[in-house]
Amino acid sequence: MGNENRGIVAGLAVSLGGGAVVIGLLTAMFAAASGTERTVTVTAPAGTTQAAPGTTSVPASIPADVVSGAYDYVHFACGSCHGWKGEGGVDPAIPPLAGAGKEFTAEQLRSIIDKGAGISADPKAPFMPVWGSVVTDRQVTEMIAYIKAGLPVVPGATPLTVPDGAAADAAGAVLYQTYGCINCHGSNGFGGVPDPAAPEKAIPPLTGIDFKKGFPADKIAEIIRSGSVIGKQPITAMPHWGGVLSDKQVSQLVAYIQSLK
Ligand code: HEC
Ligand code: HEC
Repeated sequence: MGNENRGIVAGLAVSLGGGAVVIGLLTAMFAAASGTERTVTVTAPAGTTQAAPGTTSVPASIPADVVSGAYDYVHFACGSCHGWKGEGGVDPAIPPLAGAGKEFTAEQLRSIIDKGAGISADPKAPFMPVWGSVVTDRQVTEMIAYIKAGLPVVPGATPLTVPDGAAADAAGAVLYQTYGCINCHGSNGFGGVPDPAAPEKAIPPLTGIDFKKGFPADKIAEIIRSGSVIGKQPITAMPHWGGVLSDKQVSQLVAYIQSLK
């Protein structure tokens, strides 16, 4: 990919915070790249399923909640840990989700997603994040429907991928979305996402003078790998990404975060 295109991709990834819009653009890019005829642009936010200009065409056999749940699953980066089809295999500490729909009741699934799955004994291993203050009740309902349906393939519900040869900070900007950092730390790291049970009442920004003073590159990399002291639910703690993100991906995220204001 030439430098110009790369710039465009990075620019889109950096400047657009609205997940639904990003998914739409990206989906359009996927479609263009694969050369298929099907029109798959999405402009409706996850949660709405009515027909609208640019609606994705999906098989009528997939219920609307399941379709929305598949988009939520991508948007909240569940697949970065559990596999994009729920197939597992990312890290030994993270279970696949293929059987979870049978193993757990809807109520149990809601509790796991909202409150996490308990406090991890190993501070280095990935743990199930607490999503309660970040994901809406409606979105949790949709993801339960998707998991209960066995995580079927839904057209357009695909994560962003880093363009070949992207500069480190541009690649990091894409990863910031693919791995769902954006859902907790906000567009361009502005923070402010509510975390009512935490002392600061909000998930911290990754921008500003205080952040830059407190977090040189090596410290940013360290907290991405090993998360924060694991908060007690219902506090939303920083997930552990060691075992999930490669060293290269961590350094790309650091480059992106350091490029922020
Ligand atoms: C940072 C990695 C990570 C992310 C992101 C993540 N999970 Fe998890 N999840 C885990 C780990 C680790 C466990 C196992 C917890 C345990 O057994 O103590 C788990 C457990 C679960 C379980 C229970 C499955 C079982 O067999 O025990 C469900 C359901 C689940 N996650 C759903 C989700 C959904 C939905 C999302 C997105 C909103 C998500 N997870 C995002 C790491 C993650
Ligand atoms: C589920 C919400 C959530 C997600 C997803 C998440 N974080 Fe965090 N992150 C937090 C919370 C909460 C803290 C504060 C932890 C603390 O104070 O101990 C934090 C702290 C941080 C910090 C240190 C800043 C500070 O002031 O403590 C960095 C850097 C960071 N996160 C980067 C990332 C990156 C990069 C990603 C994506 C790979 C990411 N985070 C994904 C919730 C999240």
